[in-house]
Amino acid sequence: MKTVFETIKDRLPITEVLSSYITLVPNGPQYKAKCPFHNERTPSFYISPERNLYYCFGCGAKGDIFTFVEQFEGLDKKGALKVLAERAGVTLTGYSSNNSDDDGIYQALEKATLIYQNLLKDNKEALNYLEKRGLSKETISDFRIGYAPNEWRTIENVCKDTKEKALALKAGLTKSVEDPSSKQTKVYDRFRSRIMFPICDSSSRVIAFSGRIFPQSDDGPKYLNSPETEVFQKSKTLFGFDKAKIHIKKHNFVILVEGQMDLVFSHQAGFKNTVATSGTAVSAESAKDPFSNLSIVSRLTSNIFLAFDGDEAGQKAMDRAALVALSLGMNPKVVVLPSGLDPADYILANGPEAWKERLKEAKHFIDHHLDIIKAQSSSPHAFVKNIKQKLFPFLAKVLSPMERNIYINKIAKEIEMPAETIDQELKQSFVDLPKDDMVISVNKNKDLSAYERLIALRQRFGGESIEKISEELNTVSIGGLVFSAPAVDEDRLSKALIVVEQEYGNLKKEDQEKVAKELVESVLQEFLSSMRVSYMKELKQAEVGGNEEEVSRITTILNEIIKSRHERNNSA
Ligand code: UTP
Ligand code: MN
Repeated sequence: MKTVFETIKDRLPITEVLSSYITLVPNGPQYKAKCPFHNERTPSFYISPERNLYYCFGCGAKGDIFTFVEQFEGLDKKGALKVLAERAGVTLTGYSSNNSDDDGIYQALEKATLIYQNLLKDNKEALNYLEKRGLSKETISDFRIGYAPNEWRTIENVCKDTKEKALALKAGLTKSVEDPSSKQTKVYDRFRSRIMFPICDSSSRVIAFSGRIFPQSDDGPKYLNSPETEVFQKSKTLFGFDKAKIHIKKHNFVILVEGQMDLVFSHQAGFKNTVATSGTAVSAESAKDPFSNLSIVSRLTSNIFLAFDGDEAGQKAMDRAALVALSLGMNPKVVVLPSGLDPADYILANGPEAWKERLKEAKHFIDHHLDIIKAQSSSPHAFVKNIKQKLFPFLAKVLSPMERNIYINKIAKEIEMPAETIDQELKQSFVDLPKDDMVISVNKNKDLSAYERLIALRQRFGGESIEKISEELNTVSIGGLVFSAPAVDEDRLSKALIVVEQEYGNLKKEDQEKVAKELVESVLQEFLSSMRVSYMKELKQAEVGGNEEEVSRITTILNEIIKSRHERNNSA
């Protein structure tokens, strides 16, 4: 019987899956693309439809549709399986490769989600509140919004046994606290008296929660978020990403907001390409981590609209996000809202059309920042100082040197100074400005040895005739030494298979045989010349040591080698 992986692969050709994420260009029997896993200008990412595999000559990324989705979306194996199974229309019920703790945590979170959802249905006040705030029934059910009542053991009590209790604890649903007086540990629900927003991974599995206090109370923070767990890493998650991802790709831009409510309203207003930082984190490290939340987004689009609260905290969070976006080579724009309003308030008060207008008017982050700095500076001197202090840190992150120059020229005009001066200042303050990204070309394949190519050719296009040609390798014997095959590591072989397919895939069988002959010849030539080098060394040693017997033995072998090379050259 076929495994579920095989069934999915049969239904989803690699080109279909990958082309929904990146642009593929036909290239002989294969396709190529700009690698989504590293920065590059010229494509070095190859896809072989026949072998259902991809390989990148720039960074070495390789694999099949499952590893691709895993890497691209920042998922684990099962998450990628879930995404592709849904796409292929394959049911996974009953499929469980192992009953690891991870599975248990996901199950605990899923169960809690259902419980909270049901409890919201029973809670007229919370439902009224959400409705009054303008959330539709559909939105509430789409986002699986729920309610955690003001009780200590809602989750604890539905856990059947100690195993389930341990999992609820691990999932961050409950917490364990030691009573200082009795020294006894007590376990109780983390979320109480809160409207619950499930946070999902890219495959829509619930991995955490963010809970908004309701009814209003000063007991605890307004929003309480799950702690980091085995399945929830804040720097790798964005609220709403699972719902937004296809829309981000389709519209080629993403809207980044701060709060749960902002996100939910933006989606409800039809802007489904919105994600939120709430309950998660966008930090400086995100720029370097290929699986960080914004890195994942940057593979779908480079256009990002930042729509944060106008207050100080909101602006600080926006600056952080802008810094990461710039480092990732993205193009951040700032959505300006009337003071005191967040996107949720704005959309609710003014409707989707007005929200669209706000997006249209968004300026590039650097331009926006320059405007603000200008308005805040009381003198030309202060303006220059502020540019250095407040704008340079962002400018230094702009990935493309060309783009950086555009802004340097703009600043030069504003402060009436030569662009060169500003450029020099910037370079002095930030010594490690990003360099032009490396141009990687497939010509690097020259580093593949003839033997690696031959092995790949045999594997990919083998057959009786090519095997026969390869046997020639075993016929050469010099001084009793025969050709022995060097080890080829798996990574080199993957690379060689792509190259061979690319270069020899379109050839007729007889031409492939010719190639095989040439490769065998090169392998033997390489073998002979390396033998010659090592025997020459031995000969010298024997001569120095005055070992005449050895000198004559080696001379014979060397003659054999020379003769053999000569014969091969003549017959070739
Ligand atoms: P806000 O205080 O602006 O909340 O915090 P909000 O989005 O307007 O919420 P509503 O509309 O009153 O329900 C913005 C975001 O910051 C995070 C939350 O994600 C929130 O959505 N936050 C806020 C916390 O994580 N903890 C808090 O205590 C407060
Ligand atoms: Mn807000």
